[in-house]
Amino acid sequence: MNAYLAFQLTGDFEKDIKQYFINFERQETYQHTIEVLEELDYLKKLYGSVEEGSEIACLAHDLGRVVKHEDILEFCMMNQIEVTDEERLLPSILHQKLSGHIAERVFGISNPSILDGIKYHTTSRANPTELEKEVFLADKMSWKEAGYREIAQEIKCAVKVSKDSGMRLYLEDMHQKRDQLKVYHRDSREAYVYFTGGHHDHL
Ligand SMILES: [Fe+2]
Ligand SMILES: [Fe+2]
Repeated sequence: MNAYLAFQLTGDFEKDIKQYFINFERQETYQHTIEVLEELDYLKKLYGSVEEGSEIACLAHDLGRVVKHEDILEFCMMNQIEVTDEERLLPSILHQKLSGHIAERVFGISNPSILDGIKYHTTSRANPTELEKEVFLADKMSWKEAGYREIAQEIKCAVKVSKDSGMRLYLEDMHQKRDQLKVYHRDSREAYVYFTGGHHDHL
């Protein structure tokens, strides 16, 4: 369990991120990370700039994927990471919190805005920051798997209008599919309400 937090940094952040994934044989997550950076670059080209810290948040957003599925709940317990009842039903959703913890404890990231961008990259939440939106959107736009490619392309189209359009599009899609989801996370529901003006009592 402690292996996840034991890692010698070289000081070269990008190299260290890559090596961390290699150490835990998660090369495919590293590859995904690079693809998320490419989507962040897409946003940068669209808007002329992205938030300071978004790149670091993207590089670190899936660090928690190194934690084996069967170790997730124990890792949370040992590291005082709060687990809600719905997260207990779907532990993989906790990887956003694990990523934040590893980014802080292993990689020394202390900027709360960057840490929030990491910790909410899967679910989002009501009133997210611009940085949080950028990481959330870049992650979704990078999807290439069958069944996800389509929504990724739709988000890429919507963000040409604004980040909020992209957020709305994805959160509405998730809301429509809520009955097929194992967990429709409270933070995602609240993000949906925030972006669409939907009412809580219709959820
Ligand atoms: Fe993720
Ligand atoms: Fe991701």
